[in-house]
Amino acid sequence: TLGIIGNKNSPHVFNGVSFPSIVPVEGLKALENFETRPDDVVIVSYPKSGLNWTYEVVTLILNNADISKPKLPLFTHVPYLEVMHIEHGKTYAEILRDLPSPRLIATHLRYSMLPPGVHDNGTKTIYVARNPKDVVVSYYHFHRMSRVHPDPGGWDKFLSDFMSGNVVWGSWYQHVLDVWANRQKRNILIVRYEDMKKDLPAAIRQMAALLGRQLTEPGVQLIASHCSFDSMKSNPMTNGSKVPMVFNNDESQFMRKGVVGDWINHFTVAQDRTFDSHYLRTIAVRGMEFEFEL
Ligand code: A3P
Repeated sequence: TLGIIGNKNSPHVFNGVSFPSIVPVEGLKALENFETRPDDVVIVSYPKSGLNWTYEVVTLILNNADISKPKLPLFTHVPYLEVMHIEHGKTYAEILRDLPSPRLIATHLRYSMLPPGVHDNGTKTIYVARNPKDVVVSYYHFHRMSRVHPDPGGWDKFLSDFMSGNVVWGSWYQHVLDVWANRQKRNILIVRYEDMKKDLPAAIRQMAALLGRQLTEPGVQLIASHCSFDSMKSNPMTNGSKVPMVFNNDESQFMRKGVVGDWINHFTVAQDRTFDSHYLRTIAVRGMEFEFEL
């Protein structure tokens, strides 16, 4: 078990993207042959963009808003395709192979690295995107608490590593542009973290529509209140407190702040200027938009 977590500071590189040892090369290669099913649902995001939040929401949409179902802690049951399940010693992709339908699959791989079946068969895909300033702040604190991610070094260094794409799971910029290039595909829904913060019930209705699920209005409201930041932070099944082997909760918390705009407390004026001009050249020119404050 600890062997998998052990090599915190020696990420390896696959297809130009760096990964921690909890994402084995053999597992990444095997995704080429991962068989999708027509009723699979895949949630994709760059790390720290709200994947666990969305996973909780979509689980409840698929359960018809039944919040009473007994559950495992979020971090031991969210099946990240590329990641090793620590207790089973195999990747979640292997575990998923034997799970009954309908399967809810999670991944931080970018869209073009997903199993070919996802592209070819139009698997229903929800992509969660978050403004990159809040992503890099959240990722920085997450590196501090995770026993799996490399040491981030200082904030200044981490920010420049993030901008150059020199972080595990690769470049945020390539990740979002990759799905942006595929946005016209039927069955891909891009959901923004900031929109979920502004109006979670509206986001829930949008996701339910993609998945072809009818929810009552009280059902939508129940999911929204169950998945609010405060409710997920006080719920031991969703707040990350049950996985001390992966998270050092003395350093930071998984449910850290959950807001839009915390970057303002981290970026210097000079860092902000450099970041903005790079963002303009890479993202804004392609027409992809994010909100940085609400
Ligand atoms: P912060 O570190 O900014 O607080 P992921 O699940 O992709 O790793 O994303 C983690 C981020 O989503 C963290 O951001 C976490 O607090 C935030 N998050 C998790 N659940 C949330 C919720 N219910 N509402 C708002 N933000 C949430």
